[in-house]
Amino acid sequence: MSAAAPLSALAALLGPRGLITDPADIAPYAEDWRHLYRGHPPAVLRPASTAELAAAVRICAEAGLGIVPQGGNTSMVGGATPSARGDEVVLALSRLNRVRAIDPVDLTLTIEAGATVKAAQDAAAQAGCQLPLSIASEGSATIGGVLSTNAGGNMTLRYGNARDLVLGLEVVLADGRVWEGLRQLRKDNTGYCLRQIFLGAEGTLGIITAAVLKLVPAPRQRAVAFATLPSPEAALSFLTRCQRHDQAALVAFEYMDRHGMALVLQHIPDTQLPLAAAPHYALIEFASARTEAGFTEAVEEMIAQAIAAGEVIDATLAASEAQARAIWRLREEHAEAQKRAGASIKNDVSVPVSRVAEFLREAPAACAAFMPGIRVVAFGHLGDGNIHFNLRPPETMAEAEFLAQDHAVMDAVLGVVRRLGGSFSAEHGVGRLKTYLMPEWRGGVELDLMQALKAAFDPRGLLNAGKIFP
Ligand code: MLT
Ligand code: ZN
Repeated sequence: MSAAAPLSALAALLGPRGLITDPADIAPYAEDWRHLYRGHPPAVLRPASTAELAAAVRICAEAGLGIVPQGGNTSMVGGATPSARGDEVVLALSRLNRVRAIDPVDLTLTIEAGATVKAAQDAAAQAGCQLPLSIASEGSATIGGVLSTNAGGNMTLRYGNARDLVLGLEVVLADGRVWEGLRQLRKDNTGYCLRQIFLGAEGTLGIITAAVLKLVPAPRQRAVAFATLPSPEAALSFLTRCQRHDQAALVAFEYMDRHGMALVLQHIPDTQLPLAAAPHYALIEFASARTEAGFTEAVEEMIAQAIAAGEVIDATLAASEAQARAIWRLREEHAEAQKRAGASIKNDVSVPVSRVAEFLREAPAACAAFMPGIRVVAFGHLGDGNIHFNLRPPETMAEAEFLAQDHAVMDAVLGVVRRLGGSFSAEHGVGRLKTYLMPEWRGGVELDLMQALKAAFDPRGLLNAGKIFP
């Protein structure tokens, strides 16, 4: 349908700050972070309040105009990019970014969807608390985005995925009605848990405009260590040792292989390895609100035992906040380093934690059998069984030729994932990139139920069309 009529109504509602129609200003909203997709939205809507957003949705709904909600536009799977047909507007949440309340007794933060994850973390810290959610893109990614995609990240091991941190939601529905579900309750057993239906729904069922998030008391001590490891099996044994040491304090167990580390050292300024190079690396963090002495020393002792057992080759504990940051950068810059190195095919997969070493052995072999010379970059949240298993073309192959085979390359990896009882998307979601996998992996009853929910919440299919469903 033509967007001209709703656009003039939207202009009257949102004013000049709230509506972008200049193609040059629209451009950054039209393309995804990985440059896989480019859409042609006739406009970007930037409402300043939930009421304004709801009124804008009503205008779009009346006109049958599609809506693509967008937070920080950091999706790895094209989850927030509009279609190229010009029949969908982008709904940017960036002006809904206020902290509405923070309660250190309830340990909750009520915050609007357009606030960045970093802003939410800072608000929590100011109240002596911590938002236990951390992802590499937290400076740009927004609360609405991470909740809509049920992001995982670096602390899932201890605190769960984004959906585990939500007590309440405010959501604008496809017809412009508002569900005011911003409850602050730790217990509320009153029928279906509606918030969980919107969490991880990738903006296809409603638009999250605010949330009540769970906080924890701010940690008082932290031990961040970087270790070199001889093998994937050693990494798994070391994880088990860390869990037995102090599961309540183990907040991160991250894995990196030598290929990904080499890219970070090559492409990211001011990075250096604190130890001699090795085939495998781990970053571990223990954190606690307890104050008793000996916390770090106990971690040191546990690592010494891991070295004696042959699980760890060598390790270093950060002696300052700056050193901890430097160690974390080696892990968090992996995605950026890979982007700078050129094209890659990303697999965000999970397997049961107990099978992660098998995966790290078998998936590279399966890929090499399919395409000799293919270059593997494996890293990620080993403590959750979630590996980012990314592939680069053989030295001699052109990027375009490589990318044209993305499904076949992914199939080689996913064959191993399936055999080990895993998932084709652990934390990045389905977006647009992986819709084709849904019938095979989630078909039958599961996809039927998802489609029934979609029909109930968004019968005309106006919200983030083309995502999740094939
Ligand atoms: C990460 O954990 O760094 C991200 O999920 C990024 C990626 O998969 O490349
Ligand atoms: Zn990740």
